[in-house]
Amino acid sequence: MAKAYAPYSKFPVGAALLCEDGRVFSGANIEVASYPEGWCAETTALGHYIMGGGGRITDIAVTAERMARITPCGGCRQRLAEFTQPDTRLHLCDETGVVETVTMGEMLPFGFKGDSLK
Ligand code: THU
Repeated sequence: MAKAYAPYSKFPVGAALLCEDGRVFSGANIEVASYPEGWCAETTALGHYIMGGGGRITDIAVTAERMARITPCGGCRQRLAEFTQPDTRLHLCDETGVVETVTMGEMLPFGFKGDSLK
């Protein structure tokens, strides 16, 4: 979150993905003057995760300084679901730590899966 570039919303967000081998891939939101072209912290973290070689994600954490218990936006739920399982833990945080832990399945029930495209 400290590395967010959010001059327009002034709503910095941080996300982190923990892999089973202990690696952590983090990300922050990055905004641009053409607002729809900015992207979320979770998406930055997923980019680092893929470029870092991927692996099994066991936990996700998301935090925002201006919101006590931020939840990923709809698009990020879909992106996170692509690389996680329904039982992957998602920790919703504030500045002091975890406020609530849910699963990806709870966060995105009935999500569209790519299996049908194969
Ligand atoms: N944002 C995230 O980074 N993650 C979320 O899950 C929700 C929203 C960012 C996008 C934008 O830069 C700012 O928060 C305000 O919407």
